[in-house]
Amino acid sequence: MTEKNEKGKVFLNTYGCQMNVLDSELVQGQLEALGYGFVDKSEEADIVLLNTCSVRELSEHKVWSALGRLAIAKEKQNPDLVVGVLGCMAEREGKGISDRMKHVDIVCGPSNLDQIPLLVENAVHNRGRQISLAGHTSRRSKTLQAAEDSLENLDLSRAFSPADGGSQAYVRITRGCNKFCAFCVVPYTRGPEVHRPVSHIIEEVKKLVGSGVKEVTLLGQTVNHYHFTENGVKYSFADLLRKVHDDNPDLPRLRFLTSYPRDFTDDALDAMSESKRICNYLHIPAQSGSNTMLRKMNRGYTVEQYLELLDRARSRMPDICLAGDMIVGFPNETDEDHQASIELLKKARYKSCYIFKYSPRPGTVSIKRLEDNIPDAVKKKRNVELLDIQSQISLELHQAHEGKIFDVLVEGESKLRAKPNPGEVQLGWNKPDASACRLVGRTQGDEIVIFEGKRNQVGDIVKVRATGATNLTIQAELVSEAPQSDVVSTSAVLEQQPSL
Ligand code: SAH
Ligand code: F3S
Repeated sequence: MTEKNEKGKVFLNTYGCQMNVLDSELVQGQLEALGYGFVDKSEEADIVLLNTCSVRELSEHKVWSALGRLAIAKEKQNPDLVVGVLGCMAEREGKGISDRMKHVDIVCGPSNLDQIPLLVENAVHNRGRQISLAGHTSRRSKTLQAAEDSLENLDLSRAFSPADGGSQAYVRITRGCNKFCAFCVVPYTRGPEVHRPVSHIIEEVKKLVGSGVKEVTLLGQTVNHYHFTENGVKYSFADLLRKVHDDNPDLPRLRFLTSYPRDFTDDALDAMSESKRICNYLHIPAQSGSNTMLRKMNRGYTVEQYLELLDRARSRMPDICLAGDMIVGFPNETDEDHQASIELLKKARYKSCYIFKYSPRPGTVSIKRLEDNIPDAVKKKRNVELLDIQSQISLELHQAHEGKIFDVLVEGESKLRAKPNPGEVQLGWNKPDASACRLVGRTQGDEIVIFEGKRNQVGDIVKVRATGATNLTIQAELVSEAPQSDVVSTSAVLEQQPSL
């Protein structure tokens, strides 16, 4: 909980992707600057904000359930409670949310989050429902320039405080998406793709590094499409990577998310392989291993082109870690198409892969043109099959690391605790040493590592030796004590990952 709360206490819950994690951080910074405090439980809050995700129906179900619980709390315990729905679901459903849920006071889309301080102040002072939407879904959106300006305000509002800053930070480089993959709601909720000025990105990264950040992740829906012309100089994604890297010699780790499989240039791969501080890691969703499905999904590449990109990456960086996303049960997906996805997983050998059951989303091309004709039982079966294959691959890759030494950025305490043997005094259970605990961190390749260490190593980069493996994690032991640091890592980053 933050200490300042003269204006009221806010509980902010974040659903969905890294973009939302960043948006929530920026919203929190704006409200803290006005004197609002933040609490960890909705029951303690005067204002509850839900930063929502629309990518799958399940993501929206979770929010409707939370809103149902908040309706009861507002009626029975706290009639003055202010409830706000922010993010993609707010943009997609619009005013419909507060029509269906009368207790919702604020509805604010992801492109309008710079308005949150105003909306919250208005709602607190009882000036009726506050609704701020960009209108991306109905294409009544503001001019591109207006959208760019209000979005830029949000990123420029970032607070840089070494006291509560973490060791990891997200920096946005593009917003929105123009790809219109047939299944995806993002272009309708986050609007057209816009690119941030190089100078703003560089300034933000420099300030973050100055406040103790050790790992910066550049964010965008399709980061490798980044381009910007400033002062007559044209910057490609590769140019941006090099500039962020070269201008920040004290930044130990630079990453980026998410890459699009088309137009990933050799230049960008060269920029990665030339620098040890740019992580050898690519999250590059394939979605399917079948060319028929890829065409229907409007992905704009073939399986052969996708695999050729992985080859180009691996020929420059043999130890590169790759991660993917796959969708099972897209309309008309046959057993042969599914078999092709299995083959792709076997060839790609991702260190990890998110596997999703197709979920028809309102407004998208696939819901309009294609019947959701794969029964849920078949989707489930295909999902489990791909998960099993991926688990085996992840386990093999992790096992092959045994004995190797890795630099690990310590993110926090592991929630996974080995059960103590009977009679054994276990670190962290009976606390013989208050600061000894089981830590979790990540390699450059984004692999999760678990090892025994000390609480005050959170935020450090330490050396470990891999001693064992599961499909989800590498077990390891410390091989050197890194200098101590009082920087605390952001728990929000951990919460986005598979639970440990
Ligand atoms: N480029 C984005 C993609 C956003 S959506 C990024 O930053 O990751 C994240 C993933 O959700 C996609 O890669 C896709 O695998 C999955 N997804 C998107 N829409 C979906 C849908 N309608 N049903 C199932 N999975 C979906
Ligand atoms: Fe969605 Fe495709 Fe863009 S998955 S975010 S429309 S690249």
